[in-house]
Amino acid sequence: MIRRPFAEMASVGVAVPPGILTNHDLTRMLDTSDEWIVERTGIRERHIARPDQSVAMLSCEASMKALEQAGHTPRDVDAIVLATATPDRLLPSTACDLQALLGAEKAMAFDIAAACPGFLFATGVAEGLIAAGQGEVVLVVGAEKLSTITDFQDRSTAILFGDGAGAAVVRRTSGANGRGILSTFLKSDGKLAPLLYRPGGGAMDPISEKVVCERSHYMKMAGREVFKAAVLTMAEACDEAMRRAGVSAGEIDLLIPHQANIRIIEATAKHAGLPMDKVMVNVDRYGNTSSASIPLALDQAIGEGRVKPGSLLLLVAFGAGFTWGSAVIRW
Ligand code: ACO
Repeated sequence: MIRRPFAEMASVGVAVPPGILTNHDLTRMLDTSDEWIVERTGIRERHIARPDQSVAMLSCEASMKALEQAGHTPRDVDAIVLATATPDRLLPSTACDLQALLGAEKAMAFDIAAACPGFLFATGVAEGLIAAGQGEVVLVVGAEKLSTITDFQDRSTAILFGDGAGAAVVRRTSGANGRGILSTFLKSDGKLAPLLYRPGGGAMDPISEKVVCERSHYMKMAGREVFKAAVLTMAEACDEAMRRAGVSAGEIDLLIPHQANIRIIEATAKHAGLPMDKVMVNVDRYGNTSSASIPLALDQAIGEGRVKPGSLLLLVAFGAGFTWGSAVIRW
């Protein structure tokens, strides 16, 4: 067992494309209503990137803010771990494009595919790299252009997703400043893959006229089943992160859950024993931004003064795979 904390999350930065797609905009494209979307999901609007705004560019903006806040320059970065379900290209990684944009010359850079908990998976990988002596300063990024894999003819998914990016500096700590990542918990169940997936466009069914005609390069989701699995996995993730950190719900200052659906967030808070005034919610403004969701919520919570030095945070997320994860962090 590794003695914790040996890494801290020193800062966070975000990038949000200015374009906004409201529920009302969607009602002009789909058979849906603002009332239905708000009642079933809590979402009112989401940001959509322009075609010329790449995932690497959004990541770069978020990363520069995070580095600056932590008092680093790109030259200090030993590793870039970028979580995304929407890489700019399938080869090479978006992390390598980000490295080039940043000029982070000494960094190793690679992507991880872990869907919505990707930011937490990347945080766990960053901790591992630091523990193994591979580096001192790791840039953890969650960045998405989900609008490029969303079928805007499918009302059951088109209402849910948005674009954005978040980055954090994870670096070695002695624990002397009181900050630190107190626990991480990461888990997967590939048997649940058919609940939420992109059937076409990969190596099994490469992009072709057939794939495009069948629209199988877009996300397909069994919403009700995903909902049920989400509630169960988020509950387990909350319990495990707190158990591993040796803290109780009463000690948590703020729960920062993946922003997929307000009803999933409420069920998670209830299970964890936390009142909603200790829960960060911004799903109304961004929708589900997958791996960018937690850093976007964390950044907003810091901006609103809800996260201060010394705050004890519980981060939790679930997503396609199925994957789920959590972390307890002393800010
Ligand atoms: N507008 C109006 N009606 C709709 C819409 C819509 N946008 N979408 C579906 N409906 C209809 C359905 O057709 C259905 O009609 P019917 O009863 O006549 O058949 C009815 O509404 C109820 O549909 P359900 O799917 O049962 O609705 P539900 O309450 O489950 O809400 C939702 C659907 C919002 C998708 C919910 O299931 C959900 O949030 N699931 C989790 C999704 C999620 O979080 N996915 C992200 C995973 S993270 C990742 O890795 C990307």
